[in-house]
Amino acid sequence: MRVLSGIQPSGRLHIGNYFGAMRQHLQLQAQHDGFYFIADYHALTSNPSPQDLTRHTVDVALDYLALGLDPAKTVFWRQSDVPEVTELTWLLSCVTPMGLLHRCVSYKDKVAQGLAPNHGLFAYPVLQAADILIFKSHLVPVGADQKQHIEVTRDIAQRFNQAYGEVFVIPQDHILESVAVVPGVDGRKMSKSYGNTIEIFESEKTCKAKIMKIVTDSTPVEAPKDPAKCNVFALLRLVAPAEELAQWEGRYRSGGMGYGEAKKRLVELILEYFRPYRQKRDELEQNLDYVRQVLRSGAERARAVAGQTLAEARQAVGLGPRN
Ligand code: ADP
Ligand code: TRP
Repeated sequence: MRVLSGIQPSGRLHIGNYFGAMRQHLQLQAQHDGFYFIADYHALTSNPSPQDLTRHTVDVALDYLALGLDPAKTVFWRQSDVPEVTELTWLLSCVTPMGLLHRCVSYKDKVAQGLAPNHGLFAYPVLQAADILIFKSHLVPVGADQKQHIEVTRDIAQRFNQAYGEVFVIPQDHILESVAVVPGVDGRKMSKSYGNTIEIFESEKTCKAKIMKIVTDSTPVEAPKDPAKCNVFALLRLVAPAEELAQWEGRYRSGGMGYGEAKKRLVELILEYFRPYRQKRDELEQNLDYVRQVLRSGAERARAVAGQTLAEARQAVGLGPRN
């Protein structure tokens, strides 16, 4: 079964991205034919500075490789190194009704947040459909916020297949719900766009500073506290061993514990959790030629598949082979 997912290089990756998406991507690569890519064409829709786009693309590559993406098994590439995907986007655009895109809430959300509504942002789901369909992916592991885009992909694929014959596999979504939404330091969903993140590879100093500032309520030290309502506990849940978590839960409920104490331990646990990967990341950062080589060979493998599907789609619509 082919499993495909993409992640945008729109900022430094945070522990919400890790526990909400990357960890499952990495687990799935063991049993499946993994296809993972850095969605730099998608990131362009929010008009990052050229320097940021370049830097964040390298960062995402380093993060994935450090965290255990195995390039010998999994195909890993940068979206813009496979230009076939933009050509397929055009063919798909011509079977995509405007109404389908007008209904996409992610576009409306982004515009409501103040992003300039450019055409790329509007057409973003068609590019995403091309990403998925060009590799004949069966399973697309994404967060719940992306579910609608997978439905749009299925709809576009069905329309194309009905009009021109069975070229595309209809993909399934695989909504990653095993982890609830990870809260940021201000208690809202942790997100690059809210500036409330704890990065996976944060320096020790900033990790500590951010965690000590996590918003908590004003229950006094001696009073019992509700772990289910605490942002610190929500993060402890991700990194503390089960036995220790049960102890914290008991201490919350019985009172006599200040949030500061839980925060200090959280700093240690987060740093410990990612420590083994940090060393790997440092090594990779000293060896960017290797990273480039991984992406280049990933793109070659990806292009072989993409070129084949694109040829079938061109044939189906009557464009035929290139002259
Ligand atoms: P961001 O909101 O930081 O820009 P993205 O939208 O790029 O994150 O999300 C990349 C992946 O990480 C998606 O699959 C998304 O569902 C997941 N993700 C992002 N933030 C969180 C969070 N706070 N909790 C759980 N999963 C998250
Ligand atoms: N739109 C996805 C996000 O913002 C990223 C993405 C682009 C993607 N193409 C994809 C995810 C294809 C899954 C499959 O998170």
